[in-house]
Amino acid sequence: MNVSHATTGDAQDILALQHLAYQTEAARYDDDTLPPLLEHLADLLARFGDRRFLKAVEADQIIGSVRGYQEGDTCFVERLIVHPDCRRQGIGTTLLTEIESLFPTARRFELFTGTKSESNIRLYERLGYRAFRHEPVNEMVTLVFMEKVVPRLTIRLNRLELIAATKELLEAEEDLERLGEYLRADVPANWPTPLYDNDARQHFLRVVSENPDAVGWTAWYILLLDDTEKRTLVGAVGACGLPDGDGKIVIGYSLLDQFHGQGYATEALRGFLNWAKREPLLRKVVADTFPHLTPSIRVLEKNGFIRSGVGTEEGSIQFQLWVR
Ligand SMILES: CC(C)(COP(=O)(O)OP(=O)(O)OC[C@H]1O[C@@H](n2cnc3c(N)ncnc32)[C@H](O)[C@@H]1OP(=O)(O)O)[C@@H](O)C(=O)NCCC(=O)NCCS
Repeated sequence: MNVSHATTGDAQDILALQHLAYQTEAARYDDDTLPPLLEHLADLLARFGDRRFLKAVEADQIIGSVRGYQEGDTCFVERLIVHPDCRRQGIGTTLLTEIESLFPTARRFELFTGTKSESNIRLYERLGYRAFRHEPVNEMVTLVFMEKVVPRLTIRLNRLELIAATKELLEAEEDLERLGEYLRADVPANWPTPLYDNDARQHFLRVVSENPDAVGWTAWYILLLDDTEKRTLVGAVGACGLPDGDGKIVIGYSLLDQFHGQGYATEALRGFLNWAKREPLLRKVVADTFPHLTPSIRVLEKNGFIRSGVGTEEGSIQFQLWVR
């Protein structure tokens, strides 16, 4: 079996396969008017204008296909089909994985299926998709929309994992359950931390929306990993944006109260700094804190920062770390 790009010359064969493949779905929903069964050649040919098509070929016969297109950060995956005689051999999985790889800049993938199509749902879940919306179509059919968010940057540390905030992750914070699904982690009810407030989040959202290269230069979510692979969101660490013209960044870090006093902030900041130091433009890292925040000062000192003067906010003090 070989997977390759399909062209309009394959449209007729793909359509025939689609009509055959969706017979199982028609039977499942007792509905032979499902849209994929009603698609005509002209409709399909028109789709080649703005979609990329893949075909799976075995002995000169198209036995599978899928298509996709990207809008903004999202890649929409449609019409994954495998010939009924060739199922349960991993071909659907291969097609879905391959179409995703055609959209390397997509940070999110979306598709839908019917709620009764349990094996489809299993396949998608196995590949990292999660349901986020249900839409009833008629008495028999309810669609389940599923999505997968691709966290672009992660750092694995001793006890922690850091995940760089992306536009989707920052937006998902509107709904903690969704954030938890995206991060694959438990999100404590007292999220966010007091320092990582809505203003900070909106700032990060603006920065990464304007420039996707800024991902990694705003917040990183700090996840605590335990022996059972359970993951818990415990705080945030990171900078306010890319290094400025002088090669300077301003950093911040904060943990939810219940995770203080266990060295997590020190470990997370070290992980972030090691990542940031790889950027040749970075020369200086600056942090503001307050004289009475002893634990916060210790986190900086343990990471090599030295007190350099007064901070921007009244009563605050500034620490610096020269990188190069
Ligand atoms: C959905 C569809 C594309 C899946 O294709 P597929 O090639 O069977 O998919 P896979 O083989 O990758 O996975 C299907 C199952 O086979 C299993 N499988 C994969 N390789 C296997 C192997 N070598 N041996 C045994 N089982 C295998 C998978 O674990 C999975 O099992 P599960 O259903 O218990 O979770 C196919 O069923 C289809 O065309 N359906 C009709 C159209 C449709 O509904 N499309 C989706 C629209 S949203």
